[in-house]
Amino acid sequence: MLVGVPTETVYGLAARADRLESVLSIFEAKQRPHFDPLILHIPPTWNLDTLVERGWVLEPSSLHIGSVHRLIGRFWPGPLTLLFRRGPLVLDEVTSGSDWVAVRQPSHAAFAHLLSILDMPLAAPSANRFGRVSPTDAQAVLDELSGSIAAVLDGGPCEFGVESTIIAPRDDGEWTLLRRGAVAQELLEHMLQKPLSTPNLEEILAPGMLKSHYAPHTPLRCFEWNDVPREGQVPARIRTAGVLGESLQALEVHSKTLSGTGDDREAAKNLFRTLREMDAQGLAWIAIELPPEGRSPGLWPAIRDRLLRAEFRKM
Ligand code: TXA
Ligand code: MG
Repeated sequence: MLVGVPTETVYGLAARADRLESVLSIFEAKQRPHFDPLILHIPPTWNLDTLVERGWVLEPSSLHIGSVHRLIGRFWPGPLTLLFRRGPLVLDEVTSGSDWVAVRQPSHAAFAHLLSILDMPLAAPSANRFGRVSPTDAQAVLDELSGSIAAVLDGGPCEFGVESTIIAPRDDGEWTLLRRGAVAQELLEHMLQKPLSTPNLEEILAPGMLKSHYAPHTPLRCFEWNDVPREGQVPARIRTAGVLGESLQALEVHSKTLSGTGDDREAAKNLFRTLREMDAQGLAWIAIELPPEGRSPGLWPAIRDRLLRAEFRKM
């Protein structure tokens, strides 16, 4: 049985992780390619020992065990996904054949409660069709997947609005940032006392890193904040667009801002909902002002990452 579930990041599409037919039904409902592995979501009472003893993960290497304990102690339950060597219970279909399995412990009260009752991990990708905008409320899950799911547990709008941050340990003792997300990079680096490495573009370790993802149906064009078109030099197709971002607001009536006060948490929370709303307006184009590149703090890098991937398919 497939159920839409609220998490603190985005809504998930959950099924038992230990049953092949349940796992396969996730891929079918999402029209998701089998090379894209799933995250295991574990109950709030579980810890690393539970995961190891029950056969879901192998004990981390001595190089990483200390930092794994610190990361779990600080960020679980919450929006940090860690990669572990997979244990004997993990199905090939969950990891797409990889020796590594992604695990997180969600903090959303209703989902955590469900996981406690079940006392088993649920595999759950975001509850959107593959490549599309992630859902951040129950109605968006129905808009994406009604007909393919048994129910949605309505837990209100998601607290963060962008997916979990994913990191993986490397054999040389370093950590790799596989996906930017709701835990800011600098918080992780502060805890690990070293910079996270970022993989080569060719090395698509996490399909959340696919160049095209999170895409609305309406074509979308991103502008750097210091390169937004001014009146008089606006391309015709942009003139018929809805716009997102403050500098572009002068151009169009259908404009929206993710956060009027420049607050990254507020902007992340509004991101996917706003893209969905604009997508439903029948616009010819959506023009977007990007948050500045570089090591700007907080959730801005994750927001920028999602917007660039949303743009890619349509260009
Ligand atoms: O916040 C989240 O993480 C949400 C909520 C529902 O928990 N889930 C989510 O799942 O974003 P999904 O399936 O949309 O994205 C999971 C990402 C994928 O890009 C996948 O490739 C990566 O996690 N991933 C999962 N298992 C992996 C593995 N074994 N190795 C590398 N990447 C993995
Ligand atoms: Mg997803």
